[in-house]
Amino acid sequence: MGCPPPLLLVSMANPMSFKQLFDLSGRTALITGSTRGLGFSYAEGLAEAGAHVIVNGTRAEGVAEAVSKLTAKGHKVSGQHFDVGSEASIVEAFAALDAQGLEIDILINNAGIQFRKPMVDLGVEDWQKVLDVNLTGSFVIAREAAKRMIARGRGGKIVNIASLTSAAGRATVAPYTASKGAITAITRTMAVEWAPHNIQSNAIGPGYILTDMNQALIDNKEFDAWVRASNPSGRWGKPEELVGAAIFLSSSASDYINGQTLYVDGGWLAQL
Ligand SMILES: NC(=O)c1ccc[n+]([C@@H]2O[C@H](COP(=O)([O-])OP(=O)(O)OC[C@H]3O[C@@H](n4cnc5c(N)ncnc54)[C@H](OP(=O)(O)O)[C@@H]3O)[C@@H](O)[C@H]2O)c1
Repeated sequence: MGCPPPLLLVSMANPMSFKQLFDLSGRTALITGSTRGLGFSYAEGLAEAGAHVIVNGTRAEGVAEAVSKLTAKGHKVSGQHFDVGSEASIVEAFAALDAQGLEIDILINNAGIQFRKPMVDLGVEDWQKVLDVNLTGSFVIAREAAKRMIARGRGGKIVNIASLTSAAGRATVAPYTASKGAITAITRTMAVEWAPHNIQSNAIGPGYILTDMNQALIDNKEFDAWVRASNPSGRWGKPEELVGAAIFLSSSASDYINGQTLYVDGGWLAQL
């Protein structure tokens, strides 16, 4: 792999055009859970911005399909299927990426699962499964990525995926809420711990977005009507509407932004 330019590009010593602030050429980005939904949109957006993207999911065939869709559009793409809920699987995947010479400059910790049940009926096993994927997985992947970014000394970008539930309570989604609240907290810790290495860690908090994860809610007329009525924008969000925030937080445009959560929710949280 050629050596990409240092990530911190805007300075008096090294001026750049503001038009280049969002350019990701020469960067490599791992986006977990990117075979479909929001992750696929992030992968497509970052690839269009010039990055070499690494697509991930648990299913090898899902990864191969996403890789071929993005390759057909002329993007630089690799695939790595692994389960973010398993530390062993993550460590093995990073060893495979090292062996291929793929050095990650940008990590989007996007893979996540949902599990709906009233708390009084919720077992620890189901609680733990959500936390393993959404929270522990994000920590382990960020640890592996940051270790390598620090050793290379070129800085990097970590974008964790939070949710409206990081900031607001919703019934029947306790483990998801716990995981996403903790994501904003650990994003701040990553920011503080890794800022001296020129690694910026931020989070995106999507609102209600039209993806497979929400299919049952989209199909539920009452819930669909509630989403529309409760949102100042009067509608669900589309996966492509999250891409601008992902490119921003992955690029030099956000080099002095650290530890923040950017909500992309049509204004839902603003009215609480
Ligand atoms: N959609 C929303 O309204 C919304 C709102 C707030 C936050 N979010 C967050 O945004 C992220 C993406 O959500 P989405 O709606 O796009 O989800 P989705 O449509 O359900 O897609 C999930 C993606 O994650 C992968 N995945 C699931 N479990 C995995 C695991 N253990 N290891 C690796 N990959 C895994 C899936 O691939 P495989 O099928 O191959 O496993 C798929 O590519 C999640 O963190 C979610 O919590 C979504």
